[in-house]
Amino acid sequence: MVESVISHDPARSSAGVFFDPQPLTTPTERRFQRRHLLGLEGQPASRLEAWLDRAAAWRDRWRDSRDPVAVLRGVEVCNAFFEDSTRTRTSFELAARRLGATVVSFGVAGSSVSKGETLLDTLRTLVAMGMDVVVMRHASAGAAAFLAHELDVSVVNAGDGAHEHPTQGLLDLLTLRDAWGGRFEGRRLVVVGDIAHSRVARSIVHGLQTLGADVTVTGPPTLLPHGIETLGCSVSGSLDAAMSGADGVMALRLQNERMGQGRLPSQGEYARVWGLTAERVSRMRPGAVVLHPGPLNRDVEIASDVADGTRSVVLEQVANGVAVRAAVLEWCAEREAA
Ligand code: CP
Repeated sequence: MVESVISHDPARSSAGVFFDPQPLTTPTERRFQRRHLLGLEGQPASRLEAWLDRAAAWRDRWRDSRDPVAVLRGVEVCNAFFEDSTRTRTSFELAARRLGATVVSFGVAGSSVSKGETLLDTLRTLVAMGMDVVVMRHASAGAAAFLAHELDVSVVNAGDGAHEHPTQGLLDLLTLRDAWGGRFEGRRLVVVGDIAHSRVARSIVHGLQTLGADVTVTGPPTLLPHGIETLGCSVSGSLDAAMSGADGVMALRLQNERMGQGRLPSQGEYARVWGLTAERVSRMRPGAVVLHPGPLNRDVEIASDVADGTRSVVLEQVANGVAVRAAVLEWCAEREAA
């Protein structure tokens, strides 16, 4: 506290203020493990389940009390977002604050990136100020892995191009685990839309495959990458067929910012053939749920009445995002055993 190191003694200073020679703080050993979360690919089932269990525990606690806890006291988290975000950026910030960390949010606008500074120099600068965890969103696949290699800091991938969005994958898994009564085996999720440009699709395919559920991906052929089935999902050419008997469906936003020209005839045509409608949702099993990572384009990939309907768990996904990000930050900043 500033008050504890500044004394007021008019006899010793004409301004009446001088610095007390006491040490500012008691030095503490801060040997964090420098863990990174770059993707869900290759994460063992036990690790995924541990994050989901911890997130569920934070969610339960925060139903009763939002009082900050000191789990991450002394930890400095840098939210470095080189692409726009509402949900991910805000929920990382809320999670870090609720765990007692200090958070700095950093975007391209207003920073020296606009003057030509490289990504690495910018992040080196921030880390030199004492950051322990960097949460980064970037338009380039592999950007988070590059930083994790170059910097002595924990890195969390908050979405890198069309590669992965692992904390989105975890919050989707938590939402599905709730909806599916705690078990993934024997369940099937349909993922529909712009698979080619979707980091969300890759993370949920990896996560569900590891935990024992099936995934069917479907969408316009121009937005289905060649060889996607090698990730462990099945591919369908028909949304109606894919949704018959499914336990859930996730509609993806058309990633116009990553899409070249000529992939789709029109948004209206896309909505007619690939949009989620109430009739299509009724093809799924009783109790099946509708997910969307957001931001959603109403009446393009999802009809408004479906987005707001009784099967929709879109806002549960958002709420689970805070708890999942708390679990991940806590894991990243865990201290080494003595
Ligand atoms: N789902 C998701 O990543 O949303 P934001 O772009 O708002 O963070």
